[in-house]
Amino acid sequence: MNIDNVAAKIRALAKEKNAVILAHNYQLGEIQDIADFVGDSLELSQKAAATGSKLIVFCGVHFMAETAAIIAPGSRVLLPDAHAGCLMADMITVAGLRRMKEQLPGRPVVCYVNSTAEVKAESDICCTSANAVKVVESVPNPEVIFVPDQYLGYYVQQQTKKRIHFWPGYCPTHARILPEHILELKADHPNAKAMVHPECRPEVAAIADAVLSTGGMIRYAKNPAYNEFIVGTEMGIIHRLRKENPGKKFYPVSEQAVCPNMKLITLEKVLYSLETEEPQVKVPELVAEKARLAIERMLEVKG
Ligand code: 13P
Ligand code: SF4
Repeated sequence: MNIDNVAAKIRALAKEKNAVILAHNYQLGEIQDIADFVGDSLELSQKAAATGSKLIVFCGVHFMAETAAIIAPGSRVLLPDAHAGCLMADMITVAGLRRMKEQLPGRPVVCYVNSTAEVKAESDICCTSANAVKVVESVPNPEVIFVPDQYLGYYVQQQTKKRIHFWPGYCPTHARILPEHILELKADHPNAKAMVHPECRPEVAAIADAVLSTGGMIRYAKNPAYNEFIVGTEMGIIHRLRKENPGKKFYPVSEQAVCPNMKLITLEKVLYSLETEEPQVKVPELVAEKARLAIERMLEVKG
């Protein structure tokens, strides 16, 4: 079957089953094109919370589908490839977080959504890259524990007077982006604005024009004053940036900035998942109950 046929079958079956297809900005272009909604982690969790659909096909990685399952308990959430994990999420364990809490009593835990449901359940409030500064500011305590992304933590530390205690996790895909990648592209395209994700190394964030979530990049690129962009994040976002901004130029910082897990989701797997309504992402209710509190607290942070 060719790509167009598979895509048409997916759309027809999604309509028949009243399913909603959500896709992250890093998904393959053909997946983004068949989705009902494409967005960043925060936007996708807001969509999952608001959807009335009983069936959500989540084209992203495991922690994202888990978050949807937690906040939309009445929906069956499918992840078309059950092995689509997140290397950063796997860098922290519940036991490790408990040890850190014992060493730093009285500091609330702010947990980046790129984490397992169990780690969220041990945390006070979640955040995404889009709202991390606001979430940390919303906590009344002067010190917080921030897990698992040290680079997002460093970025937040520069925007707040609160003291942040970091967990040493990171995203291997974003860690491959180096200052020289940005500097070389800046030399070739002096008018281009460099936008990078806060999961990048601090020395990369320091030389960027803007540090943004993937959703923030999509909005920033629409600024009519700017026509050329250096893009410091996973390659998948280039598809949407070019599609929504014909005539503007986007230069990916590194062909190495690919998240292998995001690329596990293919059209064929989405179709199979819709047909079989598997693999379902389930979270044990006791864990989900606690994790839901941390996610809901985040969703209540305004702004
Ligand atoms: P966003 O929430 O900015 O889309 O980031 C998600 C992610 O996994 C980045 O690696
Ligand atoms: Fe996880 Fe990095 Fe992939 Fe994002 S890009 S899902 S943080 S491994």
